[in-house]
Amino acid sequence: MLFAQDIGIDLGTANTRVYLKGKGIVIREPSVVAVTAKGNPPEVVAIGNAAKEMIGRTPGSVTAVKPLKDGVIADIEITSDMLKEFIKMAIRRSPFSRARVLISVPSGITEVERKAVHDAARNAGAKYAALISEPLAAAMGAGINISDAVGNMVVNIGSGTTEIAVISYRDIVTSKSIRTAGDSFDEAVVEYISKKHSVLIGERTAEEIKIKIGSALPYDGEGAMDIRGRSLIDGLPKDIEITSEDIREALYDSLSQILETIRSALEITPPELLADIVDNGIMLTGGGALLRGIDRFISEETKIPVHIAGEPLDCTVLGTGMCLERGRR
Ligand SMILES: Nc1ncnc2c1ncn2[C@@H]1O[C@H](COP(=O)(O)OP(=O)(O)OP(=O)(O)O)[C@@H](O)[C@H]1O
Ligand SMILES: [Mg+2]
Repeated sequence: MLFAQDIGIDLGTANTRVYLKGKGIVIREPSVVAVTAKGNPPEVVAIGNAAKEMIGRTPGSVTAVKPLKDGVIADIEITSDMLKEFIKMAIRRSPFSRARVLISVPSGITEVERKAVHDAARNAGAKYAALISEPLAAAMGAGINISDAVGNMVVNIGSGTTEIAVISYRDIVTSKSIRTAGDSFDEAVVEYISKKHSVLIGERTAEEIKIKIGSALPYDGEGAMDIRGRSLIDGLPKDIEITSEDIREALYDSLSQILETIRSALEITPPELLADIVDNGIMLTGGGALLRGIDRFISEETKIPVHIAGEPLDCTVLGTGMCLERGRR
């Protein structure tokens, strides 16, 4: 007998998460696919963690691809392949089902991009596919009751995009989106270290440094890290020490851009909703919310309280799951 499974998918630039109705989150994997360089169409060799491990280490015959860039689909074929594999992994216990999927997408997505996501889901074997705006899903997953006629501001700092949305009565009233987020932080760290120390490091090392000692404001017990890169002077390996203060300086411009975008979103928010936001505070979601002190930084600059969601990385997929559990589309 054929029966449908309901699946919620957060198709993120860095990570894809899948929620299975009645089960909860069943997949959290990097949005990476390893494909053979030859062959038309290229053959998928690995996805998720297994594929991420291959980045920068594959022989010429295999390439590890990140099919999403800046929150949108850069490669539709490979995105379809990735979705297909993730859907298969999620529903492996019921192999005959044809899935119905709900996928979160950035609020600023164009019609063409919407269609690309929709087609990717259908190509992946979904019987039915619906889309939900990421900030709306993230707000739900963060525990905000979006049905109230009360203004709430969500700032979702992912890896490709930061999305700022004012939500009231199940809809987005105003929104702003910029392509400055976690990946930009990593790029800023690479650039800073190459300028200040004339040493080149990879983006994965930069991300590690950011997570270990990065911050938006000074914090207690600040650290330092010894890292190895390649000297830009003689091309040889070189060890240097990087401090929390270095990283703060490196991240300053990206953080200021996010702050400016929050300010501009507040400026176009109707006064009643603005008053609600001042009362309720701003909710931070997405992996970027885990940067030390980012809540205090935004709060000090906007004079509005800021909260970090319970599980910032999972908010969006949890929100899609809540829609499925309630039977809403
Ligand atoms: N502890 C941490 N401190 C700082 N940044 C972190 C931390 N943990 C994860 N991140 C960052 O969070 C980002 C991933 O967040 P998330 O999974 O929400 O993004 P995404 O949903 O894949 O992207 P997008 O929503 O832009 O498509 C990465 O840039 C990662 O480096
Ligand atoms: Mg996201």
